[in-house]
Amino acid sequence: MDELHDIRARFPAIDGQWARFDGPGGTQVVDTAIEAAADWQRSGNNANSLGAFAAAYACDDLVVRASATMGRLLGADPKGIILGPSTTANMMALTRAIGRWVGPGDEVICTALDHDSNVSPWLLMAEDTGCRVQIADFDPSTGRLSVEAVADLVSSSTRWVAVTGASNVIGTIPDVSAITQVAHEVGARVVVDGVHLTPHRQVDVACIGCDVFTTSSYKWYGPHAGIMWVEPGLLDDLDAYKLRAVSDLGPERFQYGTTSWESLAGLDAAAEFLLDVGLDRIAAAEAIRFRRLLDGLHDQSGVRVVGPQDSSDRAPTLMFEVEGFSPSEAASALAEHRVAVWDGSNYAVDAMEPLGLNTKDGAVRAGISAYTNDEDVDRLLAAVADIAN
Ligand SMILES: Cc1ncc(COP(=O)(O)O)c(C=O)c1O
Repeated sequence: MDELHDIRARFPAIDGQWARFDGPGGTQVVDTAIEAAADWQRSGNNANSLGAFAAAYACDDLVVRASATMGRLLGADPKGIILGPSTTANMMALTRAIGRWVGPGDEVICTALDHDSNVSPWLLMAEDTGCRVQIADFDPSTGRLSVEAVADLVSSSTRWVAVTGASNVIGTIPDVSAITQVAHEVGARVVVDGVHLTPHRQVDVACIGCDVFTTSSYKWYGPHAGIMWVEPGLLDDLDAYKLRAVSDLGPERFQYGTTSWESLAGLDAAAEFLLDVGLDRIAAAEAIRFRRLLDGLHDQSGVRVVGPQDSSDRAPTLMFEVEGFSPSEAASALAEHRVAVWDGSNYAVDAMEPLGLNTKDGAVRAGISAYTNDEDVDRLLAAVADIAN
């Protein structure tokens, strides 16, 4: 029996009306996260941190609690946890600060497998500072980014390496620990975009050894928020763009404006949910659904699965094309069957061309989440068969 067979009951929005394969773009929210955010807003604690009254203390406590929970979820020192609005916003803030350290002659390595939030902020920084960005390519036939592809670009000029923990379009998982090692050998720092990895694998930042790790709680059953871990020593050294009244040390320097307390309460509960259920159990259950989906798509005529054709060692996310349909036409036709999928590049801008896709239109993307069941998969497969034939 599927170990997660009763988990759907924890998601009020998963009511069988729609088969939801849009999780890589944002999952539905778990009951405890919904309640935690609502409870916070009912509690009277909606204030601000660093005040002299009970509600202000409650805000301080919430930051400490959410940081500690995130530290446990990611295997990371909570002193480095920054609680921000989104990963994109966090990356813009980070690269703006790093831009004060780099200039002509310095190099940053990004990858073609990454979501644009781990590429464009570096390109913009390069425009401002004169440093150079190089892009490491993945193997289009396997969809895999090898350690060598990054190592070949690493030199004594490399200052930063920015690499995804898992592709948000084809799910492949680079060896970020080995890539970190290669970068550290020349004294470069490493940012791992963990947004697509965190919902599908047990993360251990200490074991990866990276300097920065990012994730977004709306991809793992929580509210819209971005969490960025920065190695605490590095965090204090970074010259953040910040307001004068804000502390000169610690995560507050990157927490722009008043925190969304209700989101913090919700993300804390969502992280506790992942810790309670266990990422290994989630990954095992998702792998079963993913194989069913992949095998089912392979069996259909007029359907091309993009990138890797096997299900091993990847997050349960894939792209496919339906002959005779543009990706957006296919997604609309699937929506008529109440099957929710995304279409387009899904911001993995540099991955489209190597995958043989129109860079603008991309393909259809379907992702398995913890709440996906066999009936959902069969509904998607039947809908694809209906439109393809
Ligand atoms: C792999 C990956 N990185 C980064 C992001 C950006 O996250 P956010 O929307 O929190 O800025 C996404 C969002 O889709 C993503 O899938």
